[in-house]
Amino acid sequence: MNILFDLLARAAVKRRFNASWFKMLAMQSVDDAKIMAARKGLEFVEAGMVVGLGSGSTATHFIRLLGEQVQAGLKVRGIASSRASEELAVSLGIPVIDFRDATEIDVAIDGADEVGPALALIKGGGGALLREKIVASASKQFVIVADGSKVVQRLGKFPLPVEVIQLAEPLVSRRLEDLGLRPALRQQKDGSPYVTDEGNFILDCATGEMDDPAKVAAEIRAIVGVVEHGLFLHMATRALISDGSGVRELLR
Ligand code: 5RP
Repeated sequence: MNILFDLLARAAVKRRFNASWFKMLAMQSVDDAKIMAARKGLEFVEAGMVVGLGSGSTATHFIRLLGEQVQAGLKVRGIASSRASEELAVSLGIPVIDFRDATEIDVAIDGADEVGPALALIKGGGGALLREKIVASASKQFVIVADGSKVVQRLGKFPLPVEVIQLAEPLVSRRLEDLGLRPALRQQKDGSPYVTDEGNFILDCATGEMDDPAKVAAEIRAIVGVVEHGLFLHMATRALISDGSGVRELLR
């Protein structure tokens, strides 16, 4: 994909294409990479499985592709990690169940905001980190599908989402500030706080690149009022990463 970006950048300079044209093509090629990774994710699904359905644009591609398979006769059941993914799955005819029907998921397929060494992840850019982590924790295989831009040497350029009880937000903010994690309350376009599917707020922390994500995770977890954070450590079993021309597999 870097080569493609390079070619697009050169073309844009030479022929003076405007920035929005370039941006549109770049977005298209990133989307192609997401679709390619999502399609590869299908290879990990077998008839009869309970499938964890992730959230975000790459997971949405996966759910659409899975829907096509279900319409063609594949028998699976899904457990969704967000209301949006559940609605999409239902609209495509994928039977959606919950943990009262099955306490174990055979394979969960989800996206990520960053994929670091040993498949340590930052997730929650779409605000679904709590259910995503619950789904991942119940999964025998937790497979990440992502475009190549998500792979990093050190986690932390992407703001780390922390889901907090609304009432405790000012207290948790203060504690995160004290830890040097620079939290910002996630807002909607109209300026009101973003509220998760579970009715909580999200604090996006500008951690900067982390030397020791496990230590950061433990410090955040120790704050009363924190519901969950977006560091997914020792959870992913495999990552399917696409640059738009192929898919490479990363294993833990
Ligand atoms: C949602 C998530 C998503 O998986 C993550 O934000 C990646 O999204 P996308 O596939 O759109 O890049 O964690 O909470």
